[in-house]
Amino acid sequence: MNPKYQLFIFNFQFSIFNSTIFMKPVALIAIFMFSVLMTFGQKIDSGFFRRNPSMSIIPMPYKMETTRGFFKFSGKTRCFVSEADTYMMSTAALLANITGTKAPVVKQVYPHGMHGQTNLIVFQKIADDSIGDEGYRMSIAPDRIIIGANTGKGFFYAVQTILQLLPPNIYQAIGNKSLTSTPDHNFEIPGVEIIDKPRFGYRGMHLDVGRHFFPVAFVKKYIDALALHKFNTFHWHLTEDQGWRIEIKQFPKLTEIGSKRKETMEGSYAKEPRTFDGIEYGGFYTQEEIKDVVRYAQNRFITIIPEIEMPGHALAALSAYPELSCDPTKKYEAATTWGIFPDVFCPSETTFDFIDKVLTEVVALFPSKYIHIGGDECPKTAWKNSVFCQNLMKERGLKNEEELQSYFIQRVEKILTAKGKKLLGWDEILEGGLSPTATVMSWRGEKGGIEAAKQNHDVIMTPSTYVYFDYYQANPNIEPLAIGGYLPLQKVYNYEPYPSELTPDQAKYILGVQGNIWTEYLPTGASVEYMAFPRAVALSEIAWSSKENKNWTSFTDRLSYHAKRLDALKINYCKRIFDPQTNIVIIDSEPAIEMTTELNGGDIYYTTDGSKPSTLSNKYTAPIPFTKDMNVNAILLRDSVVICKDFEKKFRKSTVLKKAYTLTKLPEKVPEGTDMSLTDGVVEGSNKSSMGWTGFKQNDMEAVFDFGSPRQFKSVRLNFLNKPVSRGSAEGIFIPDYVMVSVSNDGKTWQDINRADFAATRDSGNYTREAFLNFSDVTKPKRYLKVFAKNVGIIPKGFKGEGQPAWMYLDEIIVE
Ligand code: ACM
Repeated sequence: MNPKYQLFIFNFQFSIFNSTIFMKPVALIAIFMFSVLMTFGQKIDSGFFRRNPSMSIIPMPYKMETTRGFFKFSGKTRCFVSEADTYMMSTAALLANITGTKAPVVKQVYPHGMHGQTNLIVFQKIADDSIGDEGYRMSIAPDRIIIGANTGKGFFYAVQTILQLLPPNIYQAIGNKSLTSTPDHNFEIPGVEIIDKPRFGYRGMHLDVGRHFFPVAFVKKYIDALALHKFNTFHWHLTEDQGWRIEIKQFPKLTEIGSKRKETMEGSYAKEPRTFDGIEYGGFYTQEEIKDVVRYAQNRFITIIPEIEMPGHALAALSAYPELSCDPTKKYEAATTWGIFPDVFCPSETTFDFIDKVLTEVVALFPSKYIHIGGDECPKTAWKNSVFCQNLMKERGLKNEEELQSYFIQRVEKILTAKGKKLLGWDEILEGGLSPTATVMSWRGEKGGIEAAKQNHDVIMTPSTYVYFDYYQANPNIEPLAIGGYLPLQKVYNYEPYPSELTPDQAKYILGVQGNIWTEYLPTGASVEYMAFPRAVALSEIAWSSKENKNWTSFTDRLSYHAKRLDALKINYCKRIFDPQTNIVIIDSEPAIEMTTELNGGDIYYTTDGSKPSTLSNKYTAPIPFTKDMNVNAILLRDSVVICKDFEKKFRKSTVLKKAYTLTKLPEKVPEGTDMSLTDGVVEGSNKSSMGWTGFKQNDMEAVFDFGSPRQFKSVRLNFLNKPVSRGSAEGIFIPDYVMVSVSNDGKTWQDINRADFAATRDSGNYTREAFLNFSDVTKPKRYLKVFAKNVGIIPKGFKGEGQPAWMYLDEIIVE
């Protein structure tokens, strides 16, 4: 249906509410004229939010159209609630508080009419299946705001939308929790008609408080930020190898002992030798604190799903109660490093009794219908070595340890079912057979989710490739240390939660999406915010907005303004998404470096000699002539505020810039969204997660350039990565054995012209190595050039992962 028509119907429905069935035709005509007049607004076209930044609503509403005029808030604005519903009252009070209007009053303004009354806000309960229990209809006009919703949730989300139409500094008041201290109450918001409802019923964000602990005040700030983006679920990952964070009264040692670790490893997991800070680390939430947080979240229509990890990631619990392990004679300690640990819960009656009692207390604290029981990353070593487990498997007819894990999960499912709760687990719970009523969180890509949906099980999509917000979001060479991976904002934004493999019937099992925040490298609330935002903002649009309404340009336009709200809330979001992007363009047959930013109204200042840029440096106005090797450093400002300060990129001049080449064997890893990246003019630093690396697994690299007609060659340079170890385990990335350059006139018979050898200099360091091959003796012009790099193939003796396939990473071929 055409949106305008729907909006008209919406006005009309309100009018029907308003009037009586005995309405005279003349009144109907008047209402019709009024509606037409009101909806005569601006179309939301592609440039709308650039022209009207203050209307930047995120996530984008289902239907939205501007109308004429403004609604002005004042101390005289009256707020009416159609029913004495607690949630409607509190939501109306929230809006009244922030905007400094009179406290809400319960009064039937509709359907008894409001003729002649102006300057009012009406919260009207309606019965409208088309918007579901979280949707709302809202009409903002100069004389009144009317909000219709089926439930408190809908009103809450309508108010979140109004808050976004107010100046961003109102979020300062929300952040300070001093809602009545809003500096300026004379707000006005533009006329708009909105029909809004979410695409997915499950819209989640997760937080791991096991690796690092975050105080209640931070958890509440996080919940506020989720509510603002219309998320409705907070997945609280409460237990880990590194710490048990929830008070369980029947098992006090879980927190007395299990909430503490003796120290924490420093820096990257890959760093060797490992060092530790020597400082005891701990923290947990009391049950009173948890109740407080649950209430806080409920008031924001956020369900908290607690996660109690089992059977793996259980070291902290075993440190308190070793009898829950397969070898109670061993001494266990909460982990001081990251990773996966072989000591796990034993599938014994002692353990199931423990789990039953723990879950009894957990269930009493969390009203959520789901309880997350983990289920991921459970090594089977301890079970394989346990006589008890092996006997149990025989007794139960379990073929392998995967089936034993399935048995474990099914036992826990029975415990939860008896308590009236549903089991939720990571996709490993599929292994050895899914328990009958389980819901699956698909994290190792989408495969687990697809499989579960095909088995008619509910699924929450949280694939690491798209929504693991502990991955790098910008250039890893200059970002704070992260776990790895590379997940920029646009990749998150483009994620589509319905896998194409599913039939429409199977797709119904996809309940929604969730972003995950694992905190190995995130010790503070500020670091969590940095990784979560703005990627969670992008996710909110995946979760809430209709697929048709998703549009990257519109999103970045709105995000540019939305950033001011995050600033007002003192959310330490990553501004790197606005980092200048570079692209080589050809102007008058000469290459030039083009720089752009997603930030509206942003100014770029740059240097090309490696010096530190400032506002006294060149201001970017046009592509920079690319005449020689240059290191571009840049800063980005908006309204005199520095948004990005340490952008750096190394450009290397080459006669094959952006030139096509043929690879004899295709690489196993290519940079995101690129094709000819080996001739993009950019060389990378030594971080494997950097954007530009092309990786060849076991295979050699052979690139052939055809110049069309003969030419001479002076030199070839190649930039390789060496990274044999990472996080203590084999990464297997080696510089090549050798590089060979050959030329040809027919592309068939080749003449080798130079070779550079590296095998003898191979070591375990992490660095980039340039292969430089000079051809002072080549004078004859040739049409074809072949560059060959010999992969070491198999990880050599003496290196971690010896005998496994080896990688060769290359990011640029430079030809002079
Ligand atoms: C997970 O990331 N191990 C669920």
